[in-house]
Amino acid sequence: MRLLVCGGAGFIGSNFVRVRARDHGDDVVVLDKLTYAGRRENLQDVEHEFVHGAIEDPAVVTAAMEGVDAVVNFAAETHVDRSIAEPDAFVTTHALGTYVLLETARARRVRYVQVSTDEVYGSIEEGSFTESSPLAPSSPYSATKAGADLLVGSYHHTYGLETLICRGSNNYGPYQYPEKLIPLMVLNALHGDRLPVYGDGMNVRNWLYVEDFARGIGHVLEHGVPGEVYNVGGPDETTNLDVVRSIIEYVGASEELIEFVTDRPGHDRRYSLGSEKVRALGWEAQVRFAEGLRRTVDWYRDNAWWWEPIRSGDYRAYYERQYGRALG
Ligand code: NAD
Ligand code: DAU
Repeated sequence: MRLLVCGGAGFIGSNFVRVRARDHGDDVVVLDKLTYAGRRENLQDVEHEFVHGAIEDPAVVTAAMEGVDAVVNFAAETHVDRSIAEPDAFVTTHALGTYVLLETARARRVRYVQVSTDEVYGSIEEGSFTESSPLAPSSPYSATKAGADLLVGSYHHTYGLETLICRGSNNYGPYQYPEKLIPLMVLNALHGDRLPVYGDGMNVRNWLYVEDFARGIGHVLEHGVPGEVYNVGGPDETTNLDVVRSIIEYVGASEELIEFVTDRPGHDRRYSLGSEKVRALGWEAQVRFAEGLRRTVDWYRDNAWWWEPIRSGDYRAYYERQYGRALG
């Protein structure tokens, strides 16, 4: 299959490209704007064609979609804290970018997969969201992702475009930018820096190893029913504080590094996805959280070449703005 993977130079996109090229022999074209989160290094070991451009640019998108069998869209602004500080790019990429991709896919009658998130359902105290749960997003990030999902659904309903939506829970694993909880805590623990836990640390996330999500998206691409939404949730739920304590244990750092800091505004308490529908298609998560976290800690420990340029570049200024203190 020839695939156009938008946002394929980011964390999940690059893991998806690796899985598809290695295990399925797909021809992959990556279209990526290379924001701070997109890096060619993430794909240095994978054969692919690369187009540098934005999904909101119709000329670039039209050329990149030439001759492909399907489009998988990962391209997004993905950090909730950044969406609270500066929402502009979230609106442009999620609303306008998704619209341009859908229009182009409609003109070419190309199957279209939108990669979405459990955050579109909002927070849930007990039980799990199903695909028919109402959308109740809380942040500019999740609200613009929810808007994109609604637009995707409308292109199936109105124009008969073959669309699919995959809503994943919190991913972790190799190549994740260290603004997100797990890589941030791993790198800080390895460096003996403070570990900033928001609020009381009792928020719960439903952790999904990135290769499991990549396989799940591929499964939906191949076997999903057009017009449908599929939740792809991880096998384990954990409080943030327990995640941080496990990282401390695996790295061999001290619990004294933990520092409780001001909570994120509008912070969702708990996410939980029911994934029965995608399981019925034959997908199952293979990596439990304890195993995936060990693999992730090992990967960051062994791949300083990947994170050293990040920790010594613009990221330092982001860190100082976000946490009010310099990175050690
Ligand atoms: P990421 O931030 O690591 O990567 C995003 C990629 O998109 C980068 O390569 C970036 O350069 C590219 N990009 C951003 N704006 C673009 C634009 N306008 N045009 C072209 N490329 C653009 O993100 P990620 O964590 O890999 O997330 C990928 C997708 O999966 C997103 O749609 C996100 O909402 C979704 N998702 C993420 C998670 C998670 O836990 N990380 C969970 C569920 C769903
Ligand atoms: O649920 C899927 C979503 O998971 C994706 O759609 C998003 O793109 C992705 O960023 C992620 O969102 P979260 O907000 O859940 O992830 P983050 O890593 O930012 O935070 C995870 C939890 O850890 C959250 O409760 C906030 C907390 N946290 C985060 C950071 C960065 C801290 O306590 N301290 C921190 O420094």
